[in-house]
Amino acid sequence: SRPPELASTIDTSGLVDADGGLVDRAIFTDHQIYQQELRRVFAPSWLFLAHTDQFRRPGDFFGTYMGEDPVIVTMDRNRKIRAYLNSCRHRGARVCRADAGTTRNFTCTYHGWSYGLDGGLVSVPNKAGYPDGFDTADWGLVEVPLIDSHRGLIFGTWNPQAPSLSEALGTMAWYMDAMLDHDGSGTEVVGGVHKWVLDGNWKLAAEQFATDWYHVNMSHASALMLLSPEGKGPRDEIVHRSGRQYADPNGHGAGFPVHPRNRFDAQPVHQWFDYDAARARLGDARVEGPLTNGHATVFPNFSYLPVNGSVRVWHPKGPDRMEVWAWTLVDRSMPDDVKEAQRLYNLRTFGPSGVFEQDDGENWSEVQAISRGFVTNSVPLNYQMGLGSEREDGRYPGLTSELYSDSAGRAFYRRWQRLMNTPAWYEGDV
Ligand code: FES
Ligand code: FE
Repeated sequence: SRPPELASTIDTSGLVDADGGLVDRAIFTDHQIYQQELRRVFAPSWLFLAHTDQFRRPGDFFGTYMGEDPVIVTMDRNRKIRAYLNSCRHRGARVCRADAGTTRNFTCTYHGWSYGLDGGLVSVPNKAGYPDGFDTADWGLVEVPLIDSHRGLIFGTWNPQAPSLSEALGTMAWYMDAMLDHDGSGTEVVGGVHKWVLDGNWKLAAEQFATDWYHVNMSHASALMLLSPEGKGPRDEIVHRSGRQYADPNGHGAGFPVHPRNRFDAQPVHQWFDYDAARARLGDARVEGPLTNGHATVFPNFSYLPVNGSVRVWHPKGPDRMEVWAWTLVDRSMPDDVKEAQRLYNLRTFGPSGVFEQDDGENWSEVQAISRGFVTNSVPLNYQMGLGSEREDGRYPGLTSELYSDSAGRAFYRRWQRLMNTPAWYEGDV
């Protein structure tokens, strides 16, 4: 079935100049632009859904969102991961109102239509009341057509014509594997999913994780002081770091300090981790860069912090609000006490009340809070740091720039702009 034809489309090319590094903040506030984002950025893109570890046996399910569309992710009887729109085909209520669990069927609590793990409509109360032509086979849940995973991370897209997940990730997968593939044992989830609401457009968070190392020393000054061994403030090598920032043509981005002695410095895992084995598996460049530090975004709204094993989705909730959903990943091979220590470390730094996380959320809410004014909206924002400095450096694949740069931010908005101005698959040749 086709989504409804869309009334009007805004040409956003006057609002974003990705090559020149200028962004009009109307893209964070305008309701029509937001609606267009849901249909042209979110609907056609691969979106993060869950981790494979959340589905251990048939019937395990997890409820999440793709853009603002609620979906249920589940493992069917053949152990295949599938996802469905979480909306009853009868009158539209959610068929699953739990956050996660295990079930045999999804039964709507409004009138009792019930759906199997394969999405089929299996039971209808008072079915005799429907006309002869009523066939339950026509009224199954709407299924997400493409689901795939990369090293435990499950993604889905509504676009049946989307390029494969591995094509969409491209070179970004090399950077992601610095977190996901330490020793071949894979990752698992500890401590459930944290969820919290922030005032602020989802892009403020997504772009920051892609591109913004610039804020770290200022915004996180007090947190860095807390963590410094002398308690006097961050050491010089923390403040003035050299590193690289990766800008992906599909809008992904990653930034990480580079140092031969990069370590999981402040982390419990440091004592346990086998650096020599990681070097042999992933190469020196990754161990001395993205394995132990940095942050990154997979376009559009999935971000992670390799140093913490924190992965998160910035769910859009209107132009001026987002809901953050965050998981903590650990290596499957870690001893239980290291896993627990890692969970607590992540909670204290990048949990909802973590010393770093609070600073970031405060910034996004601050930018959003003053963005309603007419004049405020007409002044463009600056993304020009490192303009023109992107190059192949021979060590890190793809185009990279210095760590302190907006290059991945420009790549993020270049991709956003292209999608916003391209008819999606369901719009045909308009
Ligand atoms: Fe689900 Fe009626 S809305 S059974
Ligand atoms: Fe930050």
